[in-house]
Amino acid sequence: MEAYIVDWLNLFSRWVHFITGIAWIGSSFYFVWLDNHLLPVADKSDEDKGVAGEVWSVHGGGFYHAQKYRVAPGQLPDTLHWFKWEAYTTWITGMFLLALIYWYGAEIYLVDRSVADLSQPAAIGAAVAFLIGGWVVYDLLCKSPLGKNDAALGGVIFALLIVAAWGMCELFSGRGAYIHFGAMLGTIMVANVFFVIIPGQSRMVEATREGRTPDPDDGIRGKQRSVHNTYFTLPVLFVMISIHYAMTFGHEYNWLILIAISLAGVLIRIYFVARHKGKASLLPVALALLILLGVAAAIAPHAPRTTRATDAADTGTTTGPIDGAQAGAPMTFADIVTIVQARCTTCHGAVPTFAGFPAAPAGVELDQPEQIAKEALRIYQQTVITRIMPIGNLTQMTDEERMTIDRWYRDGATIDWIGAH
Ligand code: HEC
Repeated sequence: MEAYIVDWLNLFSRWVHFITGIAWIGSSFYFVWLDNHLLPVADKSDEDKGVAGEVWSVHGGGFYHAQKYRVAPGQLPDTLHWFKWEAYTTWITGMFLLALIYWYGAEIYLVDRSVADLSQPAAIGAAVAFLIGGWVVYDLLCKSPLGKNDAALGGVIFALLIVAAWGMCELFSGRGAYIHFGAMLGTIMVANVFFVIIPGQSRMVEATREGRTPDPDDGIRGKQRSVHNTYFTLPVLFVMISIHYAMTFGHEYNWLILIAISLAGVLIRIYFVARHKGKASLLPVALALLILLGVAAAIAPHAPRTTRATDAADTGTTTGPIDGAQAGAPMTFADIVTIVQARCTTCHGAVPTFAGFPAAPAGVELDQPEQIAKEALRIYQQTVITRIMPIGNLTQMTDEERMTIDRWYRDGATIDWIGAH
């Protein structure tokens, strides 16, 4: 029952997280777009009122005319819309999900004893330290003299993010590391809104109300943080979907893959921001595609042999060397079934017995030999290529067992398999 309730909490908070995340990033992308499309005002009287630029657009069957003031309008309107609850709700639901899945379920999702032998409290402590530490260090850097030089600041932040990605991948399971990297960036983004952008805007509004000239530094600071946020967006969104792609977080060099794909995301965003302002060089996009293709090529698995073991026996052909997996006694499909039933079906069964799993995770059931044969590719990917299953190696699968699955898969993954060579 408890696991069932946790599942509903998970579903509900994920749904809200997703919806508010769309609203947040959607409005944030819109305002970046707006800012970068401003044209000089057509009407001279607007300019006298302090309007810096304007945009005309058409959407949903109506015409819109937005104007941006250099600092603030002489008099504030009665109704002024703020954009902050999208960000806050995204963060609150995100933290709830993180705590529910990765902290409450740390033994399954955050700790991987083959990476680091952490206790649950130690892992959670390290996770929280990254989230808080990330913001503190970033904020201090922005406020330091370095903060005056955007390029240098960006370089230092990027270097520190590489260290953080590496550190997390040395401490946590691959997916735990990835999600915490995303959560750290997301926390910085929301803290930028909460601690810098919104308070600055409040001061500007207050000054305008009292007839004082708002401090333009508030606008400049807010703008800097908002620019950072825009470049963090694509890496964060990659992390949020990366959980479905074990080839990334399950890889030996997962930290490098994380950094490379994040960099590609930043480059793509750089291109779009530049394009808003007019013609933009395609170089950042070309670089990003090169990085993505490079990563894809670098982590490509070896192609499986398509010839079936029985065919090979018939034609008398011999198989090529398979990473030493040929060693050992002959194996049969029955041995594969035994391995899977010992290591997988406590979770991946019609009725899982492993605590915390009300239903087979990801809908993958492996009780029956036919199911095992049908899921051969995924079993191979999860246990041999990325080695992320059994999750956290909670059922202690051995390397020999992984090698046996490797051999079976490469020999065609049949149910009449006899792995003698
Ligand atoms: C302790 C529980 C547990 C054990 C044991 C376990 N798994 Fe999983 N498995 C999970 C969870 C949780 C997920 C879902 C991960 C996610 O949310 O993406 C999963 C997902 C999968 C998927 C789907 C991955 C995808 O995204 O396509 C496959 C395939 C899989 N496991 C295979 C195996 C195999 C093979 C074994 C045995 C060697 C195994 N698992 C053992 C918990 C377990």
